[in-house]
Amino acid sequence: MLKVCFISMKGGTGKTTLSVLFSYYLVQRGLSVLLMDMDPQGNATIALAESKVFDDRGFLTKGFPFVIESFLSPGFSREDFGRVVSSNIEELDSVKRETNFHLLPNFLESHKYDLHLVSNHAVPVFVREILDSLNAGYDAVVMDCPPYLSSLSYAALYGADVIVIPAEASKFGLVGVELLLTVVGDVVRRRNAHYKNIIIQPNRIKNTKACIFYLEAMREKYAQFVSPVFVKETVEVPRMVRDGVRSFGVGMSSQRLQAVEAMEALFDKVFEE
Ligand SMILES: Nc1ncnc2c1ncn2[C@@H]1O[C@H](COP(=O)(O)OP(=O)(O)O)[C@@H](O)[C@H]1O
Ligand SMILES: [Mg+2]
Repeated sequence: MLKVCFISMKGGTGKTTLSVLFSYYLVQRGLSVLLMDMDPQGNATIALAESKVFDDRGFLTKGFPFVIESFLSPGFSREDFGRVVSSNIEELDSVKRETNFHLLPNFLESHKYDLHLVSNHAVPVFVREILDSLNAGYDAVVMDCPPYLSSLSYAALYGADVIVIPAEASKFGLVGVELLLTVVGDVVRRRNAHYKNIIIQPNRIKNTKACIFYLEAMREKYAQFVSPVFVKETVEVPRMVRDGVRSFGVGMSSQRLQAVEAMEALFDKVFEE
């Protein structure tokens, strides 16, 4: 069970888009996938979940906040935790999606646990505990992180085997990459974390002079980290997120094919031995 965390310090770089697209790609290759929505803004949940995970007032009925709540409650037992986690996972078995694709939904409420997690020193073990309780039930766990540094982002970093950093090719995009690599370096030093791979995935690449300039700069500066195939900026990418696993089918447009090729190259790097 490989744990892959999509993380960046910048909003809008494509964490949600690429974590969903990469999950589709894995499912389409026959792997079973759990997508963990670690962002209280719940963008992946809104994109994927059936309305049944929300009640009439728009509050979550299951998902990540309930898992955190039970983890932090006194008398929490490891055995119960496995059951709590499973009962908070949503099967994405609608017409568009496949049965071997599951989601741990999230929306707003998990935010309030941020400080609790920090203050009771639970952060380093929290995601590991969730993943252990799954008993290797998936081929891959994909984590979609918040666009800022919180206890949830640290928990994801502590729980991951592979880190994927979606990055825009711009001046600020490069600053964001530098900051995240610094944070990852700290985690490695302080917690003795070991990553199988750290990958920068260029995303939203446009055919402009500035974009090409910063893409080259990124490749030069972070040569060993940058995935070889970038994802272009095209309306087809959000459309694929909307259309689901089946959008990878025959007769794909060249824009969709380009995005799939990028996922294929990312797959090779993520699963590299
Ligand atoms: N390759 C792309 N081409 C076009 N639009 C994209 C692409 N990647 C992301 N987007 C769009 O950019 C916005 C931010 O992407 P998102 O995945 O939500 O970023 P993050 O999760 O990092 O904040 C969304 O509206 C998304 O549809
Ligand atoms: Mg997001």
